[in-house]
Amino acid sequence: MTDLWDRALAAMRERLGAEGMRHSLGVADTAARLAETYGVDVEPARLAGLLHDWAKDATASELLSAADDHGIPVTDVDRAVPYLLHAPVAAAELKAAMPDLDDQVLAAVAAHTYGAESMSPIDLIVYVADTIEPGRVHAGVETLRDAVGVVSLQELFMLAYASSLRHLVDSRRRIHPATVALWNRLVSEDPR
Ligand SMILES: [Fe+2]
Ligand SMILES: [Fe+2]
Repeated sequence: MTDLWDRALAAMRERLGAEGMRHSLGVADTAARLAETYGVDVEPARLAGLLHDWAKDATASELLSAADDHGIPVTDVDRAVPYLLHAPVAAAELKAAMPDLDDQVLAAVAAHTYGAESMSPIDLIVYVADTIEPGRVHAGVETLRDAVGVVSLQELFMLAYASSLRHLVDSRRRIHPATVALWNRLVSEDPR
């Protein structure tokens, strides 16, 4: 592994507890496997998987003030569920903490809660890896795992995103405007 990987690993170990590290390494491995399967650069995907939850342990008020400091847009949904900001806040903090990280790694970290207007293959991979890493036990996870390598990466992401939206609706949670915008774009590009 590279020096960048070693530094990222050491930094994450300082930030997360044992379960957070297990999850992060699970996402890193899964992202690397998905990248191999779909012909995407493996190392940036693995690194983004490792780093995606950099800001996961920040409190709600820390996330809101960090978003403010970094000029990250804060909607009513972010104010109600500040946890969602741990993705864009992580990307902004990582840019300062590890200036040699690729923009594609930062973008994938930023997009892992509510997505982004345009999603690159690495963004799609990290989102899916976060959903299906070996520690995940949610309903439907086996269906997603079985679809790896069988359906296209875009379709795999749509299945994972749909499952997460369904969960939000079923548990009567708020849906972020960026999530709605991304979903509308996905279905307009892939009408059934
Ligand atoms: Fe996360
Ligand atoms: Fe995660």
